[in-house]
Amino acid sequence: MSATHFQLDPQGRLLHFLTIEGLTRRHLTDILDTAESLHGVAERRVKKLPTLHGKTVVNLFFEASTRTRTTFELAAKRLSADVLTLNIATSSAVKGETLLDTLRNIEAMQCDMFVVRHEQSGAAEFIARHVKPHIAVLNAGDGRHAHPTQAMLDVFTIRRHKPDFSRLQVAIVGDILHSRVARSLIHALNILGAGEIRVVGPRTLLPAQVETLGARVFYDPAQGLRDVDVVVMLRLQKERMEGALLPSEQEFFQRYGLTEERLALAKPDVLVMHPGPINRGVEIDSRVADGPRSVILEQVTNGIAVRMAIMSITLGNHARPAGETP
Ligand code: NCD
Repeated sequence: MSATHFQLDPQGRLLHFLTIEGLTRRHLTDILDTAESLHGVAERRVKKLPTLHGKTVVNLFFEASTRTRTTFELAAKRLSADVLTLNIATSSAVKGETLLDTLRNIEAMQCDMFVVRHEQSGAAEFIARHVKPHIAVLNAGDGRHAHPTQAMLDVFTIRRHKPDFSRLQVAIVGDILHSRVARSLIHALNILGAGEIRVVGPRTLLPAQVETLGARVFYDPAQGLRDVDVVVMLRLQKERMEGALLPSEQEFFQRYGLTEERLALAKPDVLVMHPGPINRGVEIDSRVADGPRSVILEQVTNGIAVRMAIMSITLGNHARPAGETP
């Protein structure tokens, strides 16, 4: 069974959150609507709900992260869970402990949820297949494969500004080849019925047959950015590049970097997005990153509500006996 079906119970409810692929529009809109209802919690005097009171969430981060790790941590805390964050690069994994041994030890500490980031594609699914059945596993990014909570916070941010997806034109620009964010976002936009998804970048940074994912390919940003409603810029992921896929950062900026001039090709009310971390002067000019069209920091804020929603939905489905509907 593939990860797409493995994350659902026989009634089609989410038990884990490993990938966007194979989910229905109903799954995604449930998450978005729940996130919308949780969004206001941060404005309250007491920023907490009791939903996960008495539950223990373990963040297992085998790869560097700032935004994702901290917003997962905050999301769990705002739902009143006890939270533990393990940076595995600095723990037993470096002493030769296998992934399964690490897992068994943490499991022995009686936790209810694992949030996993790993440099290998399929790591979160592997963990989900080996944990005790009451534990929910959320993928916080696995290799080049998927980053489903990022995709959900991206579509949540878009929906808050532009709720009609049917006419939405979205350009995803830059290093698509190494980007788990791009793959998950393309799936989410397709499931939600987005009008047109474009991928824009040099041939060397676009995956083979990217069209089969449901995206239109543009090599020239002057065409790819024309009249779009949303531009999602991606970082050049040098840590994942083997050999010289690129001439130089300056050349990349000249050909593809998002400047004010290039942004003027898009719709006047275009949203500028970026999952972070941004490389100023490489894929995006500071004036655009900090400019009036940028919703980059809003994405970070929205990540908390979206992660709270996904945590409550998956753990809620674990707590419900099989057969019982929400
Ligand atoms: C992304 C990631 O780690 O996949 N960042 C993030 O989660 N906010 C994108 C990136 O690293 O460029």
